[in-house]
Amino acid sequence: MANVNYTLIDHPLVQHKLSLMRDVNTGSKEFRELVSEVSMLMAYEAFRNLPVKSVDVQTPLGIANTKIISGRKIAVVPILRSGLGMVDGVLSLVPAAKIGHIGTFRDPETTSTVEYYCKLPHDIDTRDVIIADMMLATGGAASEAIRLVKAHGTKNIKFMCMIATEDGIAAVNAAHPDVEIYCAAVDEGMNENLYIVPGLGDAGDRMFGTK
Ligand code: URA
Repeated sequence: MANVNYTLIDHPLVQHKLSLMRDVNTGSKEFRELVSEVSMLMAYEAFRNLPVKSVDVQTPLGIANTKIISGRKIAVVPILRSGLGMVDGVLSLVPAAKIGHIGTFRDPETTSTVEYYCKLPHDIDTRDVIIADMMLATGGAASEAIRLVKAHGTKNIKFMCMIATEDGIAAVNAAHPDVEIYCAAVDEGMNENLYIVPGLGDAGDRMFGTK
């Protein structure tokens, strides 16, 4: 495998909660709670390099020269369905963020990724964007979602997922070398149905109890 470029979030809390999510005996309610918690912890890392500026703040005892985030606006764009579960966790850190939605499917004939839904904030080109999907398997959905967000003029995009494959990361790296990828695990590969192995199963079904 060629070099792949990504940031692995190996914080013990993230790893512990991801292990609970992988467990086949974890039910939907707990799974959803864990997705939200892990997303918040991952977003904390993904926002590490947000630009800050110095301000003077009057404390009860004097003036503190301190820092605040320098007015960058953020948007979160979940890829349907599983990315939906990641929105709340990110919003708990950046409550004023706007939300877009992207839905894609894999055309069984051509095997290419096709968009079926795309609704983005009108000012997305002025925002830093985090695209969220639980699983980065082939990289098809991620690459298409990034392409759609870029097509609206957005420059600053990060992609956040929980479990990835090296092939998926390599595909996104090749299509979008400017996009930083954050994940909590890189698994062995995919099965014949393109599910990540060992992974955690169908993330949407696990989250919404649809199977
Ligand atoms: N989507 C899922 O929900 N699970 C996988 O393993 C891969 C893609």
